[in-house]
Formats: sequence, structure tokens, C-alpha cells
Amino acid sequence: MNESAADVRAAFIEKFKEEPTLFYSPGRINLIGEHVDYNDGFVMPGAIDKGIFFGVTLNDSEKINCYSIDFDESISVPLSEVKKTEGWKNYVLGIVNEFQKLKLPLKGFNCAFGGNIPIGGGMSSSAALEGGISFSLNELCNLQLSRKKLALLGQRAEHNFPGVMCGIMDQYANMMGKENKVLLLDCMNVTHEDVPLHIEGYQIILINTKVHHSLAGSEYNQRRKECEKGIAILKRELNIESFRDITDPAGLLPFKNEMGDKVYRRCLFVVEEILRTQKAAALLKENDITGFGKLMYQTHAGLKELYEVSCKELDFLVNTAKENKDVIGARLMGGGFGGCTINIVKHEGVESFLVKILSAYKKEFNINAENYKVKIVDGTHFL
Ligand code: GLA
Repeated sequence: MNESAADVRAAFIEKFKEEPTLFYSPGRINLIGEHVDYNDGFVMPGAIDKGIFFGVTLNDSEKINCYSIDFDESISVPLSEVKKTEGWKNYVLGIVNEFQKLKLPLKGFNCAFGGNIPIGGGMSSSAALEGGISFSLNELCNLQLSRKKLALLGQRAEHNFPGVMCGIMDQYANMMGKENKVLLLDCMNVTHEDVPLHIEGYQIILINTKVHHSLAGSEYNQRRKECEKGIAILKRELNIESFRDITDPAGLLPFKNEMGDKVYRRCLFVVEEILRTQKAAALLKENDITGFGKLMYQTHAGLKELYEVSCKELDFLVNTAKENKDVIGARLMGGGFGGCTINIVKHEGVESFLVKILSAYKKEFNINAENYKVKIVDGTHFL
């Protein structure tokens, strides 16, 4: 899983004997606002320099010929026979299926892809794959969908083929990301504000537990259902439109019995996280990184205790980070159940932090965790 653009170009030429157009499609980080994108909340993602490179050309065969370098697997599927399958193929075909539903004039294409984003690492390799396919087809077939429409199309593809009822965060960050900026994304209105990331003196570091999480594993969809149950009660009882209309978490208490303990705790997390993300955005704009970091720890606590999407490996990494005076904030990132933690660390403390945390993790779990010093880059683009 370490292909460069040059590797992808070479693999494409070997396979298809022609020169491809090259694209880059990024994964994402999320500073704060977790599991609230499908709950009308705010999130703060950015596109990163971990992602997937694509080589693509149109062909005259009405066929999708697609090669995954990492899996060393190919598919060759006629456009008229696109249907649900499994693994990486589902993301590719899911996108084609959504274009077809819009009755857009899609053509057969050749594609090879590979990159440097860990699969299942919580950086949304799935949105990177969806975004690379949708963007390149939109360009090469001249389908003229906006980036926002492509993001929404990617989300629908994920719902309909792999069957993960994800929010809009990952696909949106993949398409709309801007270098050195995070997106303060309003997931109810699907609009965003670019927030410059002034974190001079600090470094964003991801640490990969190397524990595999499968979003498609029913837990993600289960959380979504629990929240739907909760908001239905709140809408009826409080005459509100969404979770964001609750400005004091205590307002949930009267409904605890009717919701049941589990649904109540999910809702409590969502309400708190929406308020926290708005507070965090204000702090970031004031360059109060220390205050921001404290909120990251609170988010982790909520994801662990109330939303129950953490695991012992993630908790260990966050607890170890918290003991280090150079770490300003840390929490699990993305869907949970493994994947990465995101840490904001003072520059001068980075190396000693890494030595300590990686060896402690190795000692505890006998796993060599990986770390990534990510940069924030533009959304999916031509190379
Ligand atoms: C996954 C989903 C996103 C979002 C996060 C949790 O990455 O794809 O839509 O819900 O989990 O914040």
C-alpha cells in the first residue's frame, strides 16, 4: 500500500498499453465533530496527503476495466451489467450505478489505482476510491456535475452498494478540501466555510492502532438507527427540527425513560458533540489551540462512554497521549472500533512523544502502530 503517481502510471501502461490521465483523490482527517454528520451536526474535516492515485482513459468497449494494484485484482464489467458485488469493486461499481441512475452518458473506461492510504484506518479510503472514480468519469465523459453533486453521489453509492449508511463528511471533504484549511461543514444544509488552520508550532499526527474496523460491520448502521429513534421522540415532544435545536443537553433528561438508556446516551453524545464542535470552531478561529485540544479529549470520552464506538487500543493511545505534556489534544477519529487517533502535538515534543507512545503500545498489544504526519491538501484533482 505504498504506490506513488508514477507507480500507478506505470501499472496502467503495462496493463492497458496507453498513456492515462492521472488523478489524485485524498483521504481525510476530522479535527472534531464525530458521528454527527448524519445527525444534522457540524464537522471539521480536511483532505490529506494520504489517498489514492488513479490512471484513467475512456475506451470504446462499453466496459469497465478496472485494476486495483494493492489487491492485484481486476474487473471487466459491461456497463449494462453493473450490480452489487463485494470489496473494492463495490465502490467502483456503486459510483457507476449512481451515474447510470441519473441517465448520464457514461462511457466504458480503463482504470488502474493504488495509493498510500491505509484501508480501514479511519481516514476514509472508501470516499477516496469513490471520489477518484466519480471525479475522473465526470471529467472524461464531460458529465458536468458540480463537486458538491459528486460528493452527494458518492454518499448515495456508499449507501446503495457497500450498504454503509454514512453521513456526508468523507465524500464532501474528498471533493471540497482546500490546502491548509479545514472545512467547517454544516451537514444539515450541506454548506461549508473554509477555516484556515493556523497551528504554527504544532503538528497533527495520526497513530494507527492497526486494528481493523469494518464500518460495514453493523455497528455503524446500528448507531444511526438508535439516533433516528431518539430524534423521532424529540421532534414529537419538543416540536424541533433536529438535534441542533437542543442547546442544553439537560433538555434530554425528561425523555430518558421513553428513549431507554442506550438511545438516551447516544442522543446525549450527539447534542453535546454538536455544541462542542461549534465551540471548537470558535476557538480555532481565535487560534486557541490549547482550548481546542481540551475539547478533543472530551469528544473521545463521549465516543467511548456514551456512543460506545471506541476500543481498548484507541483508549490506550488516547490515555497515553494525555499523559504527555506536549500533546494538546487527542481522540479517536472517524467511525471508531479501531483505525487512528488524531493528536495535536507541540513540534519540539513530537519525536519523544512518538518514541514513547509507540513503544508503550507495542508493549501492551504487541502491535507496531504506524504514525503519519499528515498535510492538508486540495480535494480530488488532476495531476
Ligand atoms: C465514517 C462515515 C462518516 C462519519 C464518520 C464518523 O467515516 O463515513 O460519514 O459518520 O464515520 O464521524
